[in-house]
Amino acid sequence: MARRVRVIHDLAVLRRATARYRMAGETIALVPTMGALHAGHLSLVRLARRKGDRVIVSIFVNPTQFAPHEDLATYPGTLAADVAALSELDVDLVWAPPVAVMYPPGFATRIAPEGPARPGLEDRFRPHFFGAVATVVAKLLIQCRPDVAVFGEKDYQQLKVVTQMAKDLAIPVRIVPGRTVREKDGLALSSRNAYLDAAQRAAAPILYRVLRDCAEKIKAGRKIDITLAHGRRAVDQAGFALDYFEARHAETLEPIRSVKDGPVRLLVAAKLGTTRLIDNVAV
Ligand code: PAJ
Repeated sequence: MARRVRVIHDLAVLRRATARYRMAGETIALVPTMGALHAGHLSLVRLARRKGDRVIVSIFVNPTQFAPHEDLATYPGTLAADVAALSELDVDLVWAPPVAVMYPPGFATRIAPEGPARPGLEDRFRPHFFGAVATVVAKLLIQCRPDVAVFGEKDYQQLKVVTQMAKDLAIPVRIVPGRTVREKDGLALSSRNAYLDAAQRAAAPILYRVLRDCAEKIKAGRKIDITLAHGRRAVDQAGFALDYFEARHAETLEPIRSVKDGPVRLLVAAKLGTTRLIDNVAV
């Protein structure tokens, strides 16, 4: 059996541990998570293992990134199972700060990201979200001081927001993207998939199928706006309530009309019942 990974809850203890790594000339790779780890998270941990001498996984269910109506209260807390899974992957440290360590009384600073945080995608439906994510990720980067931090393409807009934030604030870290891990039928792994009932679970993979189908058509020269209109209809007919289905410039996330104008990313968010799913693919 693997040795149980060390779990740290105290900032001074974390700083001593990371200082020792740096004194020894070792590089650090960080994987920020909110726990409830699945194979998607674990693939990021494996990627981090290849990118740094030491791997830190943070587990912090960040209360500020949940709106009042969202699922903070029911978000699965599975620290013991998460620690067991991470122990199998040769992780060096788990950073699991209590809320009072992350947001001590009197905490009064917040990052207000622009650019990829405001192109009218997730930000339109979750206006509080990227300010909260940028703030907590900046804090995690300052606390852990990694050389590399790994984020999933699954949350593509988040990946772009974090990359821009680290660059703009001159945080000396390289943001590395990790590929989306999917079920055999194409559904992107997410802790929220557990909320789907059997009929919804059977419909859910249509999202990825339509994304891929649209990407193929656009690659083959079909017009973006017509392809998207068909895609939106297909998602609609499968019983989803669509928030958005968009083609955007893969770097800036600004609207894009043609593949000639730059790399294209297709991004979708839609609800099945009360469960909101997001996904995206490259064209
Ligand atoms: P969380 O939802 O726990 O996701 C942690 C990381 O796992 C993110 O970088 C996310 O993109 C990645 N991930 C999720 N599902 C994935 C999948 N199917 N395949 C590959 N990677 C996947 O995202 C957050 O937490 C938070 O917003 C956080 C960045 C930790 C800030 O609080």
